Amino acid sequence: MRNEIVHIGAGELNYEIRNIIKVVEKVKALGMDINLENIGDPVAKGERIPSWMKEIISSLAMEDCSYSYCPSKGLLETREFLAARNNTNGGPRISADDIVFFNGLGDAIAKVYGFLRTTARVICPSPTYTTHSSAEAAHAGTRPTCYPLNPRNNWYPDLEELRNRVKYNPAVSGILLVNPDNPTGAVYPVAVLKEIVAIAEEYDLFIIADEIYQNIVYSRHETKPLSAVIGGVPGISMKGISKELPWPGSRCGWIEVYNSQKDAHFAKYVESIVNAKMVEVCSTTLPQKAIPQILQHPEYESFLDGRRRRYERFSEIAYNTLRKVDGIITNRTNGAFYVTVAFEKDRLNLKQHLRIANRDVQSLVEELCAGPGMEPDKRFVYYLIGAAGICVVPLSSFNTDLQGFRFTLLEQSELKFRKTMETLAACMKEYLESVPASNSLPRRALTAQ
Ligand SMILES: Cc1ncc(COP(=O)(O)O)c(C=O)c1O
Repeated sequence: MRNEIVHIGAGELNYEIRNIIKVVEKVKALGMDINLENIGDPVAKGERIPSWMKEIISSLAMEDCSYSYCPSKGLLETREFLAARNNTNGGPRISADDIVFFNGLGDAIAKVYGFLRTTARVICPSPTYTTHSSAEAAHAGTRPTCYPLNPRNNWYPDLEELRNRVKYNPAVSGILLVNPDNPTGAVYPVAVLKEIVAIAEEYDLFIIADEIYQNIVYSRHETKPLSAVIGGVPGISMKGISKELPWPGSRCGWIEVYNSQKDAHFAKYVESIVNAKMVEVCSTTLPQKAIPQILQHPEYESFLDGRRRRYERFSEIAYNTLRKVDGIITNRTNGAFYVTVAFEKDRLNLKQHLRIANRDVQSLVEELCAGPGMEPDKRFVYYLIGAAGICVVPLSSFNTDLQGFRFTLLEQSELKFRKTMETLAACMKEYLESVPASNSLPRRALTAQ
């Protein structure tokens, strides 16, 4: 090429949740069955879409207007419906004008960071759902700026660290929080949310809250949406239907903007995001039409409640099985449908292994693990795939130096899930004991940027 054509942030784009499938395909080709616990798609894991929901969608599919473009921000009646729902929170009131639809939150995330000035940083949790940290890093052309979540405190943010990192890094212009959280399953208490808002207020920042799991909070936990605690701070909440309906294939999500007029820079930034959507024309029409009908259907709440209760029960099974393993940190999760296990410091090394029955699979795993730059937790994940046919995602791929892995609570069969948890516990034990901790690699400190 005559010129360098690669974007400076191109190296920051990584999505191990799907990358890991390349390894799975190779193992499957050698004759093994793999239990996929890597991706947060309830439908792919066998959740049934109720017939009343399918009827709403199929009758909309019979209307010609479902096939046309919609306004750039999205259908007015749906935005009005969502604004009215938000306005019951007691926080800043919004109108349809403060809502913009996207082709899934993935699209919203790309635009929200993509239209931020290169030098303005949004500080992300570590670990983070990678789409955020990758998009933020790609926009800046350098590593993400982070604050740690603490696995020894329910994966809540270390608020003192957050405050310090905001204070000493003047480029930080916004704070991202994900509540309920992916990958940790943490749900933030109101006090934590209020403290984040207080930090944003003190340092004149805006807040991005990814609330795609906002209605997947288990019974014992109390939290609030950002809009209920944000007061006068400028903010963006990200919401969607991929997880909640669940309809990930709809590619439909939206942002709600709070206090857009309280700050001229923020107002201009939001306008640039809207203009970007206009240049692109609009987002998917049919799912937007379906949203008010589905969310108001008499069976919707009980349907969602049934799912919440199942995730809660599976979360309890996972916690009670895994907490018996020595050398790991595991938490009771309170929302979404993920669990993250962290290995204790220095417990992993690059010599540990699991017995793999299939010789060809063993050779493949050994070959993959011999590759350069292998993270210790990724090595465990490859061995787990080869030995037990369970595919999880290495924690190091979620923008953190912590070692561990994430799995989902989406399995349909309780019996199978119990077995998977028991196998996981046995595999961690065998792996950690295969080469004792004294041979471990020195571990880097938690992301400190
Ligand atoms: C926290 C979080 N935000 C956003 C997304 C992306 O959602 P969408 O399907 O709307 O692109 C996901 C998907 O897993 C997620 O977990």
